[in-house]
Amino acid sequence: MAKNAEIGETKTDAYGTRENWPPYTYRDYPYIKPETYKSFMEFLTTENTSGRLMELQPWISVCDSKCAFCYFPTTATSKVKIEPYLELLKKELGMYAKTKYVKTSMFDEIVLGGGTPSVLEAEQMIDLIDFCKANFNINKEYFIKVTGSSKTLALPKIDKLAKYGVYQMDMGAQTFDDKLRKNLCLPDSAIDVEKAIRHARKLDLCVCVDLMYNLPGQTMESWISTLKKAIELDVEIDAYSLHVDPGTMLEKMIKTGVSPPTGDTEYEKQMYLTAYNMLTSAGYKAVGHDRYSRVEWHMRENCLNGWPWGGILTTGAGCFMGYLQKFSYSNLENINDYMATVKSGKLPISRLSESTNEDMMRRTMTRLYLRLPVSKAEFMQKFGSTPEKVFPKQLQKLKDKGLIEINDKEVRITKLGEIWKGNIAWEFAPNQT
Ligand SMILES: C[S@@+](CC[C@H](N)C(=O)[O-])C[C@H]1O[C@@H](n2cnc3c(N)ncnc32)[C@H](O)[C@@H]1O
Repeated sequence: MAKNAEIGETKTDAYGTRENWPPYTYRDYPYIKPETYKSFMEFLTTENTSGRLMELQPWISVCDSKCAFCYFPTTATSKVKIEPYLELLKKELGMYAKTKYVKTSMFDEIVLGGGTPSVLEAEQMIDLIDFCKANFNINKEYFIKVTGSSKTLALPKIDKLAKYGVYQMDMGAQTFDDKLRKNLCLPDSAIDVEKAIRHARKLDLCVCVDLMYNLPGQTMESWISTLKKAIELDVEIDAYSLHVDPGTMLEKMIKTGVSPPTGDTEYEKQMYLTAYNMLTSAGYKAVGHDRYSRVEWHMRENCLNGWPWGGILTTGAGCFMGYLQKFSYSNLENINDYMATVKSGKLPISRLSESTNEDMMRRTMTRLYLRLPVSKAEFMQKFGSTPEKVFPKQLQKLKDKGLIEINDKEVRITKLGEIWKGNIAWEFAPNQT
């Protein structure tokens, strides 16, 4: 295999297939039970002593159209009465805001996620953010981030959001190749995406685009020109490997031969390496799970760095990234069920997981997936033991493969480990041999 200069490795093999997601994601959470609901409600009556800053994440899980690959639980704009949904979203936020745990928590990010929050009018988004600012403790230094597609982010809307003080636009660009965009049912053209980005950048907004690789029919040339375009537009990048999810349009299209399949394991890895090498050469640093950033302080994002001790307070139909220390949760996906539950005065949680101490140790090791070190001192302080004592076999295996380094202070991934960070995380999942 050719020497891969930036990644600094001649050998890039370690496992058969690259895992792109870690264990302990929402699909593994058990459905909520009366006992776990009670336990969560009790937890919310306690003080937050973690000392970590948190993220507040109201979701607008509504989209004008469905992208072929998308596994996010969303509802079509035409089927939602937006104003009643926003009222109930505020009611849910208010239910959390009244709890002792949240009253003693400090937030430094308000993120309108989804879905496509930009289906809202700028005034509706601003009203929701104002509600968050009025009802939660917001740190002196805080950031507002809004997700949107160029189809619904008309330029005057961007102007209003920038004027209000939104810091970052997150845009699902996916690819700047119009042929691929059409096949994936993306609602806008590459030039529209580019126009919206250029406009936002002119207003000094930070823009972070989602890009996807290993798409059906995506050549390496197409991927390279999408990456070049993103670099030229001076945006932050989340580069996701396509996962063909059961039940998505794309899965059916591939099964029925309407769409070509995705590339094989080796091609997928080469696409990852191409992005890594091009972006690091252009001054980006790989941070978090899939982020490439050129802004130094973005690399220290608090809620990520505090994993698994910080928290994301997520709300809205279908949201699934919620975690408050040992509790992780996702909400009801059906927007009508969500609204009826909130109306009845109950938290609209669908799945809720309460981690045991052992799970928390395993989840702490998944910091490696986020490219973060596991501090031995912190591990000792939280669990009264060291990673080596708790996970001797896993750590030895990963060390032998050259995927991690251990010194007297911490465990961290190596350059080679970056390629296989998903697989590394799975070594710490329960029942792995
Ligand atoms: C809910 S979307 C938010 C984007 C927003 N709806 C827009 O139109 O700009 C979140 C991101 O998840 C990523 N994503 C969705 N489905 C995916 C899949 N099957 N595999 C990998 N990434 C996926 C996409 O990059 C997408 O932009």
